[in-house]
Amino acid sequence: MSLAHEKVEKNVGLLAVLIAVVVSFGGLAEIVPLMYQAEAIEPLPGVKPYPPLELAGRDVYVREGCYNCHSQMVRTLRFETERYGHYSLAGESVYDRPFQWGSKRTGPDLARVGGRYSDDWHRVHLINPRDVVPESNMPSFPWLAEREIDGAQVAERMRALKALGDPYTDEQIAGAAADVAGKTELDAVVAYLQGLGKHAPKGN
Ligand code: HEC
Repeated sequence: MSLAHEKVEKNVGLLAVLIAVVVSFGGLAEIVPLMYQAEAIEPLPGVKPYPPLELAGRDVYVREGCYNCHSQMVRTLRFETERYGHYSLAGESVYDRPFQWGSKRTGPDLARVGGRYSDDWHRVHLINPRDVVPESNMPSFPWLAEREIDGAQVAERMRALKALGDPYTDEQIAGAAADVAGKTELDAVVAYLQGLGKHAPKGN
């Protein structure tokens, strides 16, 4: 054994640092090219930043912790695509900050739920899931129907996202408050859910 080798093997701190360096090369080789690949960083055709009401609904979704039970990522496995539809593509979630992919599925994946049920079904389901799915153990979210969306706050959020690079126009931001006027959090979550998977490729 060379002297240098012996030094490294007998110095736990140094060994740990060098192992971290070596292992990180593997990670870098996987991750860095993705940061430059168009199909990973460019939106799919039709994918736009969330309209004001859907954006507000998305915030409620995150606040209520829906992601603790629902993923939004269909994997490339046959039994997933048969159940949910086309597997998820990176270009679908370029405007998702933070993304909601996840892997925890107490309930079904929601990446393709848009259009699967009527708005009314979602309303009833969110207020009390057992009214439409008797065996459901999803919690009830009745307060969503009572809280109004704050238009000024939605406009602020759009402004922040624009600063991060989302292509919102000044007109969209100026019109945000009017778009969500009189809407409840329930309206917003339903709009958000109905938009999920809207631009996914068709078929499996
Ligand atoms: C404690 C876990 C849990 C939480 C938290 C939760 N859900 Fe669910 N969800 C479930 C389960 C289980 C089901 C399947 C039974 C049913 O349809 O109610 C479900 C079903 C659904 C469905 C129907 C999906 C389909 O394809 O049939 C939607 C939509 C949904 N949840 C939305 C939400 C939203 C929005 C939130 C947050 C406001 C939320 N869920 C929070 C467990 C949860």
